[in-house]
Amino acid sequence: MASFSSSPSFMAIVTLAFLVLFIGSSSAQLSTNFYSNSCPNLFTTVKSAVQSAISKEARMGASLLRLFFHDCFVNGCDGSILLDDTSSFTGEKTAVPNLNSARGFDVVDNIKSAVEKACPGVVSCADLLAIASRDSVVILGGPNWNVKLGRRDAKTTSKSAANNGIPPPTSNLNNLISRFNSLGLSSKDMVALSGSHTIGQARCTSFRARLYNETNIDASLVQTRRGNCPRTAGSGDNNLAPLDLQSPTAFDNNYYKNLVNRRGLLHSDQQLFNGGSADSIVRSYSNSQSSFTSDFAAAMVKMGDISPLTGSNGEIRKNCRKTN
Ligand code: HEM
Ligand SMILES: *[C@@H]1O[C@H](CO)[C@@H](O)[C@H](O)[C@H]1NC(C)=O
Repeated sequence: MASFSSSPSFMAIVTLAFLVLFIGSSSAQLSTNFYSNSCPNLFTTVKSAVQSAISKEARMGASLLRLFFHDCFVNGCDGSILLDDTSSFTGEKTAVPNLNSARGFDVVDNIKSAVEKACPGVVSCADLLAIASRDSVVILGGPNWNVKLGRRDAKTTSKSAANNGIPPPTSNLNNLISRFNSLGLSSKDMVALSGSHTIGQARCTSFRARLYNETNIDASLVQTRRGNCPRTAGSGDNNLAPLDLQSPTAFDNNYYKNLVNRRGLLHSDQQLFNGGSADSIVRSYSNSQSSFTSDFAAAMVKMGDISPLTGSNGEIRKNCRKTN
């Protein structure tokens, strides 16, 4: 008589058990209570450092949020954007999307110092970006959500990964949808996350071509923005304009109202409302702040799930700018 352990049903049970374990562990990598024992004051410590930075300069909330986006879109949310160049690699800070643009690194240093004081060697820089982004959005009047934690920090990175990973403002709708899809984010997630452009600033070089070469833009916005963004490349490149002309330090749904009125500042912004498949999502967010904020919060959690380093991968950096 065949023993149970060699029977097909036994093998099926074993296979099933492995599947359950595997699926269970891969979705349980990050958790909202990851540091609740090892760093009980983590959230209050980060929040007060973010609050003090935003009190000094409201735009800093936007800058911190963008750092998290640029981190997650390059090798996953692994703190790689924070690494300074070394003799063995050139990092992300001088890549096109970040050079003269990504900011807030000194604020991240302050957050890290405060957290190291409270719980030395415990909390990753990647997780600090996730918490600081949530806090920034809340402080500027946006939605709250529970931040999943447990990411570890990258030991290396590359400038080319950042050049390839972050979509440029010249992107069309299909480019945007396919880049976000490749990271597990839907078109709706893409449109909701783009609502981040309800806060913060862009440089003339990021929107010049739109002011001088495009027709799907409101004439009064063109006139206003041309005043501080000359046609000639090289002149006034770093002059700033608000991404949301009405309320650049309030996390609201004006971004979508602007798009409906052809007042998107970036070419990529207006692509979301230009007669294509994203129009209906933009219109619904322009009509409902609450559907925007709840979709935004859910999409931020999804973005934060992109390829984290966990277990024995990566490390917990002592200084966010360099590997241990
Ligand atoms: C959909 C594709 C996206 C493109 C093409 C894009 C592009 C840009 C560009 C060109 C700027 C201005 C940079 C400069 O001129 O210095 C900018 C600013 C900003 N972006 Fe995006 N972005 C995208 C999505 C996102 C997402 C998903 C987030 C956050 C989740 C985000 C958050 C921000 C913020 C907050 C700013 C203002 C930063 C500051 O004032 O320091 N963006 N983005
Ligand atoms: C507008 O488009 C023309 C033709 O493609 C190009 O030569 C010119 O540099 C563009 N102007 C701006 C300000 O981007």
